[in-house]
Amino acid sequence: MAGRSEPLPMRPQGFWGRVFGRLMEAMNAPSYRLAFRLIDAQAGASILEIGFGTGKLLELLARKVKKARLAGVEPTETMLETALKRGALRRLKDRLDLRLGTADALPWDSGSFDAIAALHCFQFWADPQSAANEILRTLKPGGRFVLILRDHSKRAPKWLPNPISKSGNEFGNACRLLQEAGFESVRSAGGAGSSLAIVATKAA
Ligand SMILES: C[S@@+](CC[C@H](N)C(=O)[O-])C[C@H]1O[C@@H](n2cnc3c(N)ncnc32)[C@H](O)[C@@H]1O
Repeated sequence: MAGRSEPLPMRPQGFWGRVFGRLMEAMNAPSYRLAFRLIDAQAGASILEIGFGTGKLLELLARKVKKARLAGVEPTETMLETALKRGALRRLKDRLDLRLGTADALPWDSGSFDAIAALHCFQFWADPQSAANEILRTLKPGGRFVLILRDHSKRAPKWLPNPISKSGNEFGNACRLLQEAGFESVRSAGGAGSSLAIVATKAA
């Protein structure tokens, strides 16, 4: 599934993918705490993370949300294997469902999740329109989507596949994408370090 020539942040795989994963975890620690707070999960909640990387946010959710059902989708086998080594995740047994895949084709039924989160991976979505439709489809009525990104509007590398990240107004156009996809409310939800958060809610 992962192409060899793709940049490491977009496809962390193999030895260097694992090294990158550790650095990413340290750098994104404030984002995990912010996402956890914004997801605001109740006991027994069903939560999907898109582009879960090393699985640090999923681990936090597994530790703190009683009887959570956690799912994740990630394009690289290296990150999938890394996340599956986490004891807190393995202990979920049949309440854990991590799969290989990408944001634009989520392999779950409509109305599966109370919350969906995506941290620092939006810029890698080649087809953000399809991803937004998929997120809306797989959320339950009233469910929320938490998107955390570092705005690339000033210095977007040419190779980023997401046209919105290269549009010169990544945050604003990401909000517009979610509104046009049909989310009932889309709001700016603060930030952590250099990261900004958007919370979008599906109509109940
Ligand atoms: C910078 S890392 C962030 C990982 C994790 N969310 C975190 O904050 O620690 C970006 C992740 O997005 C994943 N990714 C890349 N393209 C993706 C896509 N189209 N759909 C879902 N995830 C993707 C990468 O494999 C990588 O694990």
